[in-house]
Amino acid sequence: MDITILGVESSCDDTSAAVIHNGVMLSNVIASQAVHEAYGGVVPELASRAHQQNIVPVVSEAIKRAGIAKTDLSAIAFTRGPGLMGSLLVGTSFAKGLASSLQIPMVDVNHLQAHVLAHFIKENDNDKNQPSFPFLCLLVSGGNSQIILVKSYNEMQVIGQTIDDAAGEAFDKCAKVMGLGYPGGPVVDRLAKEGDPKSFKLSRPHIAGYDYSFSGLKTSFLYLLRDAVVKDVDFVEKRKNDLCASLQYTIVEILMDKLRKAAKDLGINEVAVAGGVSANSAVRKAFEEHAEKFGWKIHLPKFSFTTDNAAMVAITGYYKYKDKDFCDFNAAPFARVTL
Ligand code: KG4
Repeated sequence: MDITILGVESSCDDTSAAVIHNGVMLSNVIASQAVHEAYGGVVPELASRAHQQNIVPVVSEAIKRAGIAKTDLSAIAFTRGPGLMGSLLVGTSFAKGLASSLQIPMVDVNHLQAHVLAHFIKENDNDKNQPSFPFLCLLVSGGNSQIILVKSYNEMQVIGQTIDDAAGEAFDKCAKVMGLGYPGGPVVDRLAKEGDPKSFKLSRPHIAGYDYSFSGLKTSFLYLLRDAVVKDVDFVEKRKNDLCASLQYTIVEILMDKLRKAAKDLGINEVAVAGGVSANSAVRKAFEEHAEKFGWKIHLPKFSFTTDNAAMVAITGYYKYKDKDFCDFNAAPFARVTL
C-alpha cells in the first residue's frame, strides 16, 4: 500500500511542510522567521502571526515540489507539542482544516520524537544509512538537552536531561552577552574556529547520573566577562575568538562526558545526535573522534534536518500511520510534553 504523508511543523519560529512517500522524502519546505532578529530571541506573538502568513504558501509549495495532488495524501501529520502555544495552534488548526476537507486521518507528532526519527528520513530508495535499534540519541537544541534510549520507532526513554538551561540556550545566552546576536550558536561556532579552546577555564557541573546542567557554566562565563571588562572595556572584542572557543569546548565536553558514560553503562555503541546544536562543528568532530576511539557507529544528521523541519514530522507520521495511531479531530496542542 502506498502511504503519502504531509508533515506540518510550526512549534517555534520555522513554518515548514514536507511530503514523505513510503518513507522517502519528496519535499521539505522551510520558511524561517527573520522578524525575531531585532529582539534577540523568539517573540511568541510575532511567531504565531508569521506562521499564519506562511502556512498556506509553504504547504502549497511542499505539495507542488513533491509533484503530487492534495488528493494523493493518506494523512496529515502535525506537531502537537512541545512548543509555543500560539505557534502550535496555527499548525494544529491548519492540519484539522485540511484533513477534514480531504476526509483523511490526522496524526499528532511529538516534536522531540520527530527530532530523533529524522535519522530515518530517506532521500531516495537506496538511502540505507538508518540507525538500528536500540541506539542512543543526544537531543540538543535551544530548549532541550537529553540523552534518549531509542528502543523502537515508538518506544523512547529519556535517561538523562538538563536540570536547568539547555545546551543551545547556553550558546545563545553567552553569545548575547558578548553582543553576537541571536541565535548565537552558529556565530560562536564560526568564531571558535579562530580561537584557542584552552584559553579560559569555565566551570563544569557535578551532577549525578546522566543529567546535564549548563547554568553554572553560563554564570562562570558572565563573571569572567564582568571581571575582565572592568579592567579593559575592549576585552570581549579583543578576545572573542578565544572566548567562543573555550565556551564551545566546555559545552561539548559536558555533553560528551555524560553520553560516553551512558553508552558504556548500557553497552550501546550506536549513537546519534539530533536538534539544532547537532549542526555544531565541534559536536560533530567529537562524535567522529568517539567513533574512532570507542568504536561507536555514529549518525550525524544532514544540516537541513538539524533545525526544525517538517520532514521529521512527516517521517514520524509515516510510522504512526503504519501503526494506525491516529488522533482525534478535537486534539489540542500541548505547550509542554515529554517523550
Ligand atoms: O532545534 P532548534 O532549531 O530549535 C530550538 O530548540 O529552538 O535549535 C536551535 C538551537 C539554538 O540554540 C541555536 O543557537 C543552536 O540550536 N545552534 C547551534 C548551531 N546551529 C544552531 N549551536 C551551536 N553551533 C551551531 N552551529
